[in-house]
Amino acid sequence: MGVPVETAMTATTAAIAFYQRHPISAAQITARLEALRGSLDGLTPPDLFDHDQDHYGALAANDALAAAARITAGDKVADFCAGLGGPARYYAHIYGVSVTGIELTPARVEGAAALTRLVGLEDRVRVIEGNVMAVPLDDASLDVVVSQEAFLHVPDTASAVSEAHRILKPGGRFAFTDWVLHQPMTDEDTEIMWQGQAVQDLQSTDSYRALLTAAGFTVTDVEDLTGDWGPILEKRFAMYRNLREETQKAGTPSGDDAFYRSYERLVALVKSGTLGGGRFSARK
Ligand SMILES: C[S@@+](CC[C@H](N)C(=O)[O-])C[C@H]1O[C@@H](n2cnc3c(N)ncnc32)[C@H](O)[C@@H]1O
Repeated sequence: MGVPVETAMTATTAAIAFYQRHPISAAQITARLEALRGSLDGLTPPDLFDHDQDHYGALAANDALAAAARITAGDKVADFCAGLGGPARYYAHIYGVSVTGIELTPARVEGAAALTRLVGLEDRVRVIEGNVMAVPLDDASLDVVVSQEAFLHVPDTASAVSEAHRILKPGGRFAFTDWVLHQPMTDEDTEIMWQGQAVQDLQSTDSYRALLTAAGFTVTDVEDLTGDWGPILEKRFAMYRNLREETQKAGTPSGDDAFYRSYERLVALVKSGTLGGGRFSARK
């Protein structure tokens, strides 16, 4: 099954184009840290934690996901759609695990490597270029797979869920957060989200349960995050508007008008309950 190859290619290209110009980048983070500290010498992992997380709910969301996945010291963890490696470095540093991130956008893979080197975590964190629809990791080789706010960009979510199942050891844990569609979106909103944030067909809570079960998982928990996300998204939108000025001054990527327009609409859709968020936990 899955989506036609041509559609998947267009979607993949759109996600890369979106993240190549995203206002959160390694260049923006290092420029900000240099401005704050005067130099990048002697950076430790926690120095990055306020800057390198590209999901809703900051570090508390990492801890909630770690609890959902029952992350334990020594685990081998894969982070699907790892971004700049912010969550991966957090799990490695705080929970004592080793993390392999899978990330589509080359600029983010390079950025993740640079940031990880800066804080000396190369022995436990690597972010490799790849697509979560066809993961370059061995069968039954991981204890945990996590992901945050990223499957909304993946054209064939079922493949990503199957890949998580394939690479997990028996009894392995899978926990992720994602946008969830509670009510159908209008064609206009669907287009705004596609143009502004490369958003694909979204899942509902029920369709996620069905995808997980079809892949062979036992669903252990589903949490509705919609109520939490309304105020978080409002603050995040304000952060992006400030960041826009900062990134434009620094000459680093700053997003585009379609991004800001779609973000404003996202805040409204989450507040009205059309769109929301969910945290899903499952066991192989
Ligand atoms: C919202 S960011 C989240 C990054 C990271 N999870 C975090 O919390 O900081 C979504 C990331 O998913 C990546 N991505 C999108 N589609 C992907 C795919 N098919 N395979 C791997 N990564 C993908 C994007 O390049 C982007 O870095």
